[in-house]
Amino acid sequence: MKLSNQLVRLPQISQTMREMSMEMTKAGILEEMMDDTLAVEDDEELEEEADAEVDKVLFDITNGKLGQAGSVQTELPSAEDRLEDEETERVMEQYRQQLSGILSIGPEISESVKEIYTAAKVPIEWEEVSVAPILKNGKTVIPDIAINSVKKNTVALKGPLATPIGKGHVSLNLTLRRTFNLFANVRPCVSIKGFKTPYDDVDTVLIRENTEGEYSGIEHEIVDGVVQSIKLITWDASERVARYAFHYAQSQGRKRVTAVHKANIMKMSDGMFLSACRQVSKDFPGIAYDEDLLDRVCLHITQNPAPFADRVMVMPNLYGDILSDMCAGLIGGLGLTPSGNIGRDASIFEAVHGSAPDIAGKGLANPTALLLSSLMMLRHMNLTPYADKIEKAALGTIAEGKSITGDLGGKASTQEYTAAIIEKLSRA
Ligand SMILES: NC(=O)c1ccc[n+]([C@@H]2O[C@H](COP(=O)([O-])OP(=O)(O)OC[C@H]3O[C@@H](n4cnc5c(N)ncnc54)[C@H](O)[C@@H]3O)[C@@H](O)[C@H]2O)c1
Repeated sequence: MKLSNQLVRLPQISQTMREMSMEMTKAGILEEMMDDTLAVEDDEELEEEADAEVDKVLFDITNGKLGQAGSVQTELPSAEDRLEDEETERVMEQYRQQLSGILSIGPEISESVKEIYTAAKVPIEWEEVSVAPILKNGKTVIPDIAINSVKKNTVALKGPLATPIGKGHVSLNLTLRRTFNLFANVRPCVSIKGFKTPYDDVDTVLIRENTEGEYSGIEHEIVDGVVQSIKLITWDASERVARYAFHYAQSQGRKRVTAVHKANIMKMSDGMFLSACRQVSKDFPGIAYDEDLLDRVCLHITQNPAPFADRVMVMPNLYGDILSDMCAGLIGGLGLTPSGNIGRDASIFEAVHGSAPDIAGKGLANPTALLLSSLMMLRHMNLTPYADKIEKAALGTIAEGKSITGDLGGKASTQEYTAAIIEKLSRA
């Protein structure tokens, strides 16, 4: 496997470098860089600017390509390739089990949401498609039927999708995000009134850049025992997510946007993310803007989350992933945290949690996170009154505490909790 990585990936990289220099020549960047170098030697700022341009071109060219390099086939499959095929088949079997509900809570919690929607008479029609991956030309991909359905409907509610750890496949969640340009992931975390947790006043909104950063999928083994993973930050993606964060703050009546970063360490990548945020902030004079270090934000939120209720936090991909799970912990866990992937071509709503294989098929899963994600979807579709009605019934059921699932300290099954919400809806 190591050998095949080197053989397959390195030619692609040099090909990419060739393409990159051609693009740079076309765009006049190389010429400009040469001129600048001759005119001003040792200008650090200039060097940073030029490198940012190079990064941008590199992103345009490599987006997705290098991440797929592992699937390039040699003419005669080696013993290592055959082993890789067996591994692919094993992972596919896991997916098939997931699809049949053995390894994922997806089917149970989706069923619960559908029952609640029927009871609340929400005027939408579900078009159900499986996002469970299939093998196509030796690659694991999302089925076309799912892609076409999202393209057609432009809004979707998605169940969790497992990602194999450390194997040669691109994450299919990432594939979905890239396919539909889902550039911003909105993750609100709000304390549920009446449900006791160490904090009563959590009300955070975190917006995570969703397409690049540490999730660029550009990784390669340089020599045995040395692996390089590229964190890709582009001006365009940073500007786009920052602009969305300011718009979101404005529309939700939040007074401040805080950019969360580690620019003290990643001076260029996070530095550029901050520059983009600063520039966008000038277009929103009514919204205050500040910046804070990721580690400091973690410390301060866990000490006292209340001050964070006035703002929207915006950050690069990985920081958002980790910080949102931490915020979920403050309000009672992953079973309660929704999210929306907002995109140019479509928006996909999903729970923050994964497929929870440890409790799958046992009727123990808490469907609230998927339900709340679906309510974000309804509000996105301007069906707010339905969202409000369902939210009141669900949060009221949790606050009462009589029919709540095990993750919240109760004894109810998924079905019993769903029935309690439907009962409340019938009395509303
Ligand atoms: N967006 C997605 O589809 C998504 C997100 C995260 C993880 N994943 C994938 O899910 C798989 C499992 O990941 P993991 O175990 O690290 O995280 P997980 O979120 O599936 O589970 C973490 C813990 O939280 C519990 N939990 C999660 N959701 C719950 C719910 N609704 N009700 C009650 N308990 C719940 C689980 O039982 C488990 O103990 C992995 O393959 C991962 O890649 C997918």
